[in-house]
Amino acid sequence: MKILVLNGSPKGEKSDTMHITRAFLEGMNDVSANDIQTIHAAFRHIDYCAGCFTCMKNGGECVHHDDMREILDEILDSDLLIWSYPLYCYGMPAPLKALLDRTLPLSSMAMRKVGERYEHVSQADFSRLRYVMICGCGFPNSKHNFEPAAAQFKLCFPGNHTIITVPESPMFNAPEAKSVTEPRLELIKKAGREFAGNGKIAEDLMKVITSPMIPEDQYAKIVNGTVE
Ligand SMILES: Cc1cc2nc3c(=O)[nH]c(=O)nc-3n(C[C@H](O)[C@H](O)[C@H](O)COP(=O)(O)O)c2cc1C
Repeated sequence: MKILVLNGSPKGEKSDTMHITRAFLEGMNDVSANDIQTIHAAFRHIDYCAGCFTCMKNGGECVHHDDMREILDEILDSDLLIWSYPLYCYGMPAPLKALLDRTLPLSSMAMRKVGERYEHVSQADFSRLRYVMICGCGFPNSKHNFEPAAAQFKLCFPGNHTIITVPESPMFNAPEAKSVTEPRLELIKKAGREFAGNGKIAEDLMKVITSPMIPEDQYAKIVNGTVE
């Protein structure tokens, strides 16, 4: 399977969230070898969408001439897109949002009603694509935190999506937290194996991997430097 990782962290491979993503991919590779490419959005030349809609009217030509042409080709050549990013102000970091906006050439201006909502009619065939969101964050709470990002992802990719959100993710880059992060990464690998096997992650496993690794108040005390 061709997997394209779209990394939204400005820290590239050093991203806390990429620890989760690499473990998930390792699990997927345990089932069968995959062709994996990673795009670090912050390190690429991606101009902001100009909002002119030219691309939606002329068969997909954007007015910008930057890395997005190549990135769109890579997206269309993939079977699975993994959107890996840290939560920034309850949403995705700006470099990845710029990339998401610039996928507009894949759609036409025409809109159609699907269920209770409208969506744009495609200009390209990406019907086989599946989508995974892997999102880390700095607070220990998931509620009142991940909801806007998850809602955006569901609306952008209404079919074939899986959402993994992990709070307390700076711990993945803290060697002193290994005793709790390593077992969590093992469970995330297991989730990767399940996903590769049947396209889903069991509800009970999902519940565990998306829960805080240590109690919320303990995490807050460590971050605040108030541990007795
Ligand atoms: C600009 C900015 C905004 C952030 N907003 C949130 C937020 O809304 N909720 C949260 O829990 N953490 C927030 N964080 C913390 C990051 O999500 C956290 O540090 C994460 O582990 C960084 O992951 P990365 O290493 O993959 O970039 C924010 C961090 C920055 C720099």
